Amino acid sequence: MSIAEFKRLVAEGIPDVLPDAGRYDTGLNHAPKRKDILTEAEKKLALKNALRYFPEKFHKVLAEEFAEELHRYGRIYMYRFRPSYEIKARHIDDFPYRSRHAAAIMLMISNNLDHAVAQHPDELITYGGNGAVFQNWAQYRLTMKYLSEMTDEQTLVMYSGHPLGLFPSDKRSPRVVVTNGMVIPNYSSKDHWERFNALGVSQYGQMTAGSYMYIGPQGIVHGTTITIMNAGRKISNGSEGMKGRLYVSSGLGGMSGAQPKAAGIAGVISVIAEVNPKATHTRHSQGWVDEVYSDMDSLVKRIREARSSGTVTSIAWQGNIVDLWERLADENIFVDLGSDQTSLHNPWAGGYYPAGLSFEESNKMMSEDPDKFREAVKKSLVRQVAAINRHTARGTYFFDYGNAFLLEASRAGADIMNTEGGFRYPSYVQDIMGPVCFDYGFGPFRWVCCSNNPSDLAITDEIAAETITGLMKSAPEEIRQQMADNVHWIREAAKNKLVVGSQARILYADAEGRMAIAGAFNKAIREGRITAPVVIGRDHHDVSGTDSPFRETSNIYDGSSFTADMAVQNVIGDSFRGATWVSLHNGGGVGWGEVINGGFGMVLDGTDETDNKLKMMLYWDVNNGIARRSWARNDGALFTVKREMERNPALKVTVPNIADDNIIEDALRNI
Ligand SMILES: NC(=O)c1ccc[n+]([C@@H]2O[C@H](COP(=O)([O-])OP(=O)(O)OC[C@H]3O[C@@H](n4cnc5c(N)ncnc54)[C@H](O)[C@@H]3O)[C@@H](O)[C@H]2O)c1
Repeated sequence: MSIAEFKRLVAEGIPDVLPDAGRYDTGLNHAPKRKDILTEAEKKLALKNALRYFPEKFHKVLAEEFAEELHRYGRIYMYRFRPSYEIKARHIDDFPYRSRHAAAIMLMISNNLDHAVAQHPDELITYGGNGAVFQNWAQYRLTMKYLSEMTDEQTLVMYSGHPLGLFPSDKRSPRVVVTNGMVIPNYSSKDHWERFNALGVSQYGQMTAGSYMYIGPQGIVHGTTITIMNAGRKISNGSEGMKGRLYVSSGLGGMSGAQPKAAGIAGVISVIAEVNPKATHTRHSQGWVDEVYSDMDSLVKRIREARSSGTVTSIAWQGNIVDLWERLADENIFVDLGSDQTSLHNPWAGGYYPAGLSFEESNKMMSEDPDKFREAVKKSLVRQVAAINRHTARGTYFFDYGNAFLLEASRAGADIMNTEGGFRYPSYVQDIMGPVCFDYGFGPFRWVCCSNNPSDLAITDEIAAETITGLMKSAPEEIRQQMADNVHWIREAAKNKLVVGSQARILYADAEGRMAIAGAFNKAIREGRITAPVVIGRDHHDVSGTDSPFRETSNIYDGSSFTADMAVQNVIGDSFRGATWVSLHNGGGVGWGEVINGGFGMVLDGTDETDNKLKMMLYWDVNNGIARRSWARNDGALFTVKREMERNPALKVTVPNIADDNIIEDALRNI
């Protein structure tokens, strides 16, 4: 297809002539059938809502087709309107546009829906089982049309995938403002999501799915590598090293699939259970997991061999994680590190497959007999925790990996609570990410080269590595290890061939590092060393972007972990400090109703104006969370905020006075 034809089709919006019905592509990974939750009256409403996107002349045909989709899949995806061109990241100038910044956003949306990147591309799901970019293909088409025609004096407003429209604004305003899943707090249960999503009025945007900032599995490989390395430091007393240690977990899906690759980079043996053969095949064929076993006896033999020879290898167990934990306990195989990455933020609709049922049986039961399925999930979690407890009693370090495992296991009645009423096991944020990274401002900064050219990416890698190495010279001891880990990462990144989809890179940096790297990119664009704009952004899983009591803010201990002021303030602050787009989500990672998170994207275009914007926005985007974390009395954040106030007199943060516990205890005793 010529570029001109591609441009025409992208700008077309809803076509004048009905496209062919197309076929259900059985070669693709599809979302499971969703729960049949709507009443008859609500089903009528869902159809009426769907038909709003189309002229009356199409209604008869489409009403029947959409009724069938709703019946068959539990949602109306409007498959017929999937575009005929391949959706993927391209050179920014291949997209039709009047605003070049809007074209960068088209590139990012396209990447999130690329078949090589997205988990269920035809259902517009990027990752996590339900992390949607749009609810249906009409929304995709209309959004691309709006983006292609908008100017730098308009802002596109997105309500959960629905493009509300273009509104007049000015050059300094964000070009797009996204909200996903924002509902009245009392209406935020999982069934509310099922209902609202089936009605076509709300969606679960996960984090970087609905905010157009997903960069394929690379982001999570990096995060998982950092986590496993720091978890290893916890158990290895600094000097013993990680070689030959064993990591056991589950999931070879969108994010979880990063575990074997990251474990390899961190130098540990990994065994990851996966029930879905398609997911296993994808990761194996990509070379992200070295070996696959579907016979438990052979698996056990192989683990013993790898352990005794100290061979670093990554192994997929084609089966249920519960069976794996139980068998390893029976065999007395010592597991050093353990976790879980099934999609327990979505336990009843395909996120977790219970032991004792085949993959197919589960898929059938979850839509045909949801109550029975729910019971099977709970029983399985009870078994899983019992097996994990046998391992931890022998010394395994087990941590929750931000998938709501502890939460759902406790709700299922598993033996997961300690004597003080808390969980037996830490969340990885409580023990690792929070105190080591977030409290010092280190988080998942990322960028995408809009030329879509690997040679631009190589230049950005070089600039980023030089910048951090330069900053390290005067960095305090407290943050040197983080910086060194990330310099090592970026130097190895190209070699590890992590790019899937857009030409993207990630590393963890603090406010100073992010500003310095972005500033250096902007300069290189201005000088023509980088040939096209670069988009910067981050995962929402960061210092300030996310209020999530069971994950990102699980190391906040002043009672404020169930508030969401930080995440909401963050998005508002980013939007008037220069972000090109911002997004605010209910749900993401641990589940709908359990978290509020936000993100941004900023187009670096080489201009002086962008130099100012990037400094102002990135400074706020990190230091908001540092200030909040320091107010919660977190040591690392107190250190960071004091250092920052010394460096920048314009920053004045309210810092806590620390009360003596004895005074408080006496006061209460004396009442
Ligand atoms: N730790 C982090 O930084 C982080 C980041 C993002 C997401 N997450 C969370 O991790 C979870 C996984 O994310 P994802 O994108 O990989 O989701 P995903 O749905 O793509 O993958 C999960 C995989 O687990 C498999 N699975 C489910 N039950 C199983 C069982 N009992 N035994 C073996 N395999 C089973 C599924 O088949 C699926 O392939 C989500 O809850 C997500 O929110 C964590």
